[in-house]
Amino acid sequence: MSYSDKVLDHYENPRNVGALEAGDASVGTGMVGAPACGDVMKLQIKVNADGIIEEARFKTYGCGSAIASSSLVTEWVKGKTLDQALEIKNTAIAEELALPPVKIHCSILAEDAIKAAVADYRNKHEVVDAGYAACNPTAA
Ligand code: FES
Repeated sequence: MSYSDKVLDHYENPRNVGALEAGDASVGTGMVGAPACGDVMKLQIKVNADGIIEEARFKTYGCGSAIASSSLVTEWVKGKTLDQALEIKNTAIAEELALPPVKIHCSILAEDAIKAAVADYRNKHEVVDAGYAACNPTAA
């Protein structure tokens, strides 16, 4: 099997590799694994006061297609709202990278990682907001 030029480009020059401060309230972290191959992907998003994703980082322990998929989605989520980020489908990732059928699960991993990062961010904020309202009855 040969990789497409776009996969090789992201694999050789991955965008946004690294980590954001997981304890930061503006950061959502998603960590997902693919049961089929054991590969693991960590995706983080940083959301600004307007609800826009302004930064994203990833670390992927996996195949070239998984690395390319996560690199691509860190570019795609930037500038989007959380709801817009959730609209990114694995089929669009697979199409952009010209992934063969055997590599579709690598793009599913990237879609799942976005969902997990958004869920983590929202989870943090529901807890923080509920706590704030409980301590500040007038703010509720
Ligand atoms: Fe499993 Fe690519 S082979 S993520």
